[in-house]
Amino acid sequence: MCGIVGYVGERPASRLLIDGLRRLEYRGYDSAGIAVLTDPTNPGGHSLTVMKRVGHVAQLAAAVPEDLGGNSGIGHTRWATHGGVTEPNAHPHLDNDGRIAVIHNGIIENHAILRAKLVEEGARFRSETDTEVLPHLIRKFYKGDPVAAVRAALSVVQGTYGVAVLFADHPGLVVGARNGSPLVVGTGEGESFLASDPHALAPYTRKIVYLEDREIAAITPLGWEITRLDGGATNHVVETLTESWGGGDRGAYAHHMLKEIHEQPESLTRCLSGRVVPEEGGARLGGLDLGPRDIAGIRRIGVLGCGTSFHAAQVGASAMEQLARIPAFAEIASEFRYRNPVIQQDDLFFAISQSGETADTLGAVKEVKVKGGQVMGVVNVVGSTIARTCGRGVYVHSGPEIAVASTKAFTSQVAALLVAALSFGRTRALGPHEGRAFGEELLRIPEKVASWLERPGPIADAVELLVGGRFVFFFGRGVSHPVAMEGALKLKEVAYIPCMSYPAAEMKHGPIALIDHTTPVVAIVPEDMMRDKTLSNIQEVRARGARTVVVHTEGDREARKLADVSIPVPATNLLCSPLLTVLPLQLFAYHAGLTLGRDIDRPRNLAKSVTVE
Ligand code: M6R
Repeated sequence: MCGIVGYVGERPASRLLIDGLRRLEYRGYDSAGIAVLTDPTNPGGHSLTVMKRVGHVAQLAAAVPEDLGGNSGIGHTRWATHGGVTEPNAHPHLDNDGRIAVIHNGIIENHAILRAKLVEEGARFRSETDTEVLPHLIRKFYKGDPVAAVRAALSVVQGTYGVAVLFADHPGLVVGARNGSPLVVGTGEGESFLASDPHALAPYTRKIVYLEDREIAAITPLGWEITRLDGGATNHVVETLTESWGGGDRGAYAHHMLKEIHEQPESLTRCLSGRVVPEEGGARLGGLDLGPRDIAGIRRIGVLGCGTSFHAAQVGASAMEQLARIPAFAEIASEFRYRNPVIQQDDLFFAISQSGETADTLGAVKEVKVKGGQVMGVVNVVGSTIARTCGRGVYVHSGPEIAVASTKAFTSQVAALLVAALSFGRTRALGPHEGRAFGEELLRIPEKVASWLERPGPIADAVELLVGGRFVFFFGRGVSHPVAMEGALKLKEVAYIPCMSYPAAEMKHGPIALIDHTTPVVAIVPEDMMRDKTLSNIQEVRARGARTVVVHTEGDREARKLADVSIPVPATNLLCSPLLTVLPLQLFAYHAGLTLGRDIDRPRNLAKSVTVE
């Protein structure tokens, strides 16, 4: 979603800010802007030069003069919440005199009341945004001390924020603060940085300090100071960013999404290696820090996430029940957090998130903690807010996922949850032979994924059928139902094709009324104990005119006969099957998006990291 970069030092600020914003582009945005302190020799002091553009960072970069000058500045990518996608609504926003510039991620919930009061007091608003109250509020409280002014302004604000503030009267200073929206300080020799994502700073510094909620940072070329918004002291350490995030390199691939689909053999290998221990029939996940006695004491498992991560959570919950015989459920994090859930001491929760910054999932994590429950992160981005808030968990190690549509993160999330289920299963229900067989099959999956990706079958035929439909139905049973949901989500996100997904047996309870020759159906039917029943459901939709794409196990002739387009995947056990059956669905979405001329890596209206509720 929105992105923040701030800089103070010796380098030309505008170029560095734009470079940082480019690294944040993958998060999703619709406009971009910078404010830089210029005119150092002006007798009236520095000026704030603000430039904004709707559209891509490249359009902003083209508009910013090479010789703009200035060594301090802030830059922002905006994903519209309050007010349309227009230049006046793009950040930075200014106070009346244009001496204070603010960029903001998050939502100021009491903006309407604050705005009305500020207008009465003479503030002139130029945008429809919630953010614009901030520069006016800071101006109101400014008596010469910039940090005190930001602190005072934020004390009357309700909502979430990562902010960066630049004062024309204080060259060589940027003030930042966070509450519910990530912000880090980067430190270098004679320069300091702010960013909403440390990877924006990777070419300049890997020395990072993570702000916590309700903290404020003042950065100067000489260093940084972080205090609590209530004035209290903090005790931060500088951490070194070890992960390489890259960002721009698509290699030989036309899109990040396609590259990431093809990276799954390696990402799965990274996720599994050293964790599955077939000779013990089990698995080791040091980050969970749970011994056999702790695992034996778990009474219930909840797996929480949003979007694709929720689909992985559903597979994970099934695996926990099947392998460990622990009652388990999956729930959409945004619903869980507000339904006052019953959480008991012997419950264990997993929070699933690629980005580790999803506001709804973070809210659910906090709800578990408030109620005294235990929660583990299953996260891709190292050092992200959810990972740090949980404190314990599993990194899925899928590597940087740049395309907004999640692919390799999904399979790594499922794999990590299967490893956890195996580990719990070995303690609770599985004998060494069953555990070993499951672990060995899990370790074979990356090779099966690689071999399928080399010869994926008639994807083009399936795509032709899907893009020609009025809308598309996806169905499956058991763990193939979350796979169907994931296939439908991918096709909506990337190709903007209306889709529905159902447990296969539910079709006849209503949705089948919609079926005719204009509604292609994608059926996920691996060889499991429910296969025959799903085959009957395929017959039912075919009898009503639907054309079918059937994703089935290699060699399943009966399934093939029921398919207008048959997509076989390698055989595996039921719980591992989502790691294979999801692959064609990812390619359907990619190629359908391509056929329809969509913006594959950055679909409209979407953000990679959803940091507002
Ligand atoms: O970063 P997270 O995994 O927490 O993100 C959750 C969802 O926003 C995300 O999976 C979203 O549904 C993706 N665009 C799916 O492709």
